[in-house]
Amino acid sequence: MKKVGIFYGSTLGNTRKIAERIGAAFGAENAQVVNIENAAMRDLESFDNLILGTSTWGVGEMQEDWETFARQLHKIDLSGKKIALFGVGDQVEWSDSFVNGMGMLHHRLANKATIIGFTSIEGYNFDISLALKNGEFVGLAIDEVNQSALTGERISRWVETLKKSFN
Ligand SMILES: Cc1cc2nc3c(=O)[nH]c(=O)nc-3n(C[C@H](O)[C@H](O)[C@H](O)COP(=O)(O)O)c2cc1C
Repeated sequence: MKKVGIFYGSTLGNTRKIAERIGAAFGAENAQVVNIENAAMRDLESFDNLILGTSTWGVGEMQEDWETFARQLHKIDLSGKKIALFGVGDQVEWSDSFVNGMGMLHHRLANKATIIGFTSIEGYNFDISLALKNGEFVGLAIDEVNQSALTGERISRWVETLKKSFN
């Protein structure tokens, strides 16, 4: 497996911590964790395997550093790359926009790259999410506010499937 670039946007640090835990699950030698706030498009382009993570703010919006970065995504060639997404949110307080930010990212990328790592909604309890396709999450959904005890298992299961699918 080629090295994985893990790019995240995080306001209070939850998504940063999840990105680091995902990186650790791949092993430090197999993954590089990058804050999108300090990243350039060419950084993203340099990886054939990407994991992109965002929290959700406002009512169902991407984390603000991603808002800026995602606007430029159309400028780069992502064909041939495999991309997995993760979203961090709060399914109780924001039950009708749970991890919407991940859905927004998926919307921007779906026609430009191969998106892998969809997961089941089983075990979550929310009303509406724009991060769903055919009844599944378009990536890994993490809720550190209400279900932090499940996070470790969710990450390790997801990373094991990604290891088999990445370039
Ligand atoms: C003002 C505000 C708006 C939020 N909106 C949403 C939302 O629409 N959907 C969601 O799933 N979580 C929402 N959240 C929860 C955050 O995404 C969650 O706290 C997350 O862990 C923050 O991660 P970060 O520190 O990496 O930015 C919101 C939180 C706040 C304080």
